[in-house]
Amino acid sequence: MIRRRDFLRNSALGIAGLAFSRSLSGPAAAQARTVDAHIEVLIDEPLGTISPNIYGHFTEDLGGVIYDGLWVGESSKVANVNGIRKSVIDHMRRIKAPVVRYPGGCFADSYDWRDGIGPRDKRPRRTNFWANDDPRQPAVHKYDPNQFGTNEFVQFCKLVGAEPYLAANVRSLPAQQFVQWVEYCNSPAGSTTLAETRAAAGFKEPFNVKYWGVGNESWGCGGNFEPAEYAMEFRRYATWVPGYGHELRFVASGPSDFNYDWTTGFFEAMAKQDPHFRVPWGWGLHYYSWNLSRGRTSDWDKGKGDAVNFDAADWYELLREGQKMEPLIERHWQIMGQTDHEHRVKLVVDEWGPWYRPGSEATPGDILEQMPTLRDAVFTGMTLDIFNRHADKVAMANCAQLINCLNSLYLAHEDRFVVTPVGRVFELYAAHQGGQSVRTVFSAPEVKYDRDGSPATFWGLHGSASLHGKTLVLTAVNPNVTQARDTEIIVRGAKPASQTMAVLTAPDIHAHNTFTQPDVVVPRSGEVKTIGSSVVLAIPPASVVSVQVELS
Ligand code: AHR
Repeated sequence: MIRRRDFLRNSALGIAGLAFSRSLSGPAAAQARTVDAHIEVLIDEPLGTISPNIYGHFTEDLGGVIYDGLWVGESSKVANVNGIRKSVIDHMRRIKAPVVRYPGGCFADSYDWRDGIGPRDKRPRRTNFWANDDPRQPAVHKYDPNQFGTNEFVQFCKLVGAEPYLAANVRSLPAQQFVQWVEYCNSPAGSTTLAETRAAAGFKEPFNVKYWGVGNESWGCGGNFEPAEYAMEFRRYATWVPGYGHELRFVASGPSDFNYDWTTGFFEAMAKQDPHFRVPWGWGLHYYSWNLSRGRTSDWDKGKGDAVNFDAADWYELLREGQKMEPLIERHWQIMGQTDHEHRVKLVVDEWGPWYRPGSEATPGDILEQMPTLRDAVFTGMTLDIFNRHADKVAMANCAQLINCLNSLYLAHEDRFVVTPVGRVFELYAAHQGGQSVRTVFSAPEVKYDRDGSPATFWGLHGSASLHGKTLVLTAVNPNVTQARDTEIIVRGAKPASQTMAVLTAPDIHAHNTFTQPDVVVPRSGEVKTIGSSVVLAIPPASVVSVQVELS
């Protein structure tokens, strides 16, 4: 187990040393400088507006995500608002959660939305898509009681202040049912029988759901289609769906990680019918980082690592896997542009995160639940920075999944609740939403580590920056498990007037928050100064930092 000492002892001199050395001038200063990392923010080089929806979430009817996680029921002793766990609502408001995807995931292509409306005591119980995954699951996870359906989900989104993003069943419901789900959600008060059904449930006014996924992983659990077949299905489902005066944004089921053929096949098939790509708004990309075998296997089960018990090499390997998100975005985007010349269709990374082998569940029996550690916080910061850097391409992203699942922001069981290190990163990064992403150059010594006897490297510092009027928001991660980075930030074209900094780290790289110890990994304010026209700070080892600079 790697334990780290106070990061200032690992850094050359710390902030005090920086201040001293920067007060020198000429060759003496050059010799005495202790800065070993530089960040250059080019505020005149905009990369695109950061869609708030990049900070989106995902809640599938799977394991403990809905039942026990989100939904506790109105009569529960757990604090709730209309049956929805209050602590989740409160925390999601804090991170300005912009959009939530539901009901899947693979579950979506087995789900009949009609089961989840109407009086709750009359709703049917159905076998959940994930029923066979683990025999230890409680009955409520195996046999879906349908107490949480469209009405409850939309109400949850409203309480949080987020947009709902519904995924339609393409594998096992006809297109007519999709159109009727839209009608149920969006037809004006009193206009249709389904609007009256909605009103009878207490929702007279339309939900105005804008984002609609057309299937999920249609190359796999969503129907095992070929790309051209799926393109045909997509057109059948998404053509001429009434919008009731509002724009509908359809997200087509895109590839998993490196499946470039799926992107090519779908886009070529669509271009034959409509070269202007008028209907799809988004192209869903799923990428999970799971293979920690260091090239030994590509077996889905054997390749996974442990969520909590890992060594430094495993730490870097996870980040290497996660860094692949960047070339994935670039390559799929480039393929999309071969037919969608105007890039009308944007990328929607509607499932992402690390995926470990079972064994670290806070609540045994919760399938796909894992314990997020400081490693996952650094991974999450790194991924959100990638999305920010590609703000022109990525219109939405949904972290998989919100609670009691893979890269969860929250863990809950009965009356217990905790914010994970991943949830803490979303707190630090919320300030980026809606800002202008600007090109930022990071330079720092590479990390060197041993990869089963072979030398391996990983970048030493990376991040993103966004402008909000005169406020610059900069986030960065230091992946090095032992070395702090004494860092100088230069903002080209503006002068820093004042700054604040928040740091997320812990003395142990395995640190995580539990129901009994919830504050092990929490943001703390850090020391940051202006020296001349530079902002200087020490970025601790294994950390995520957020710096806000007021510019003059
Ligand atoms: O997030 C868990 C599962 O991973 C989803 O249901 C599916 O879409 C993906 O394979």
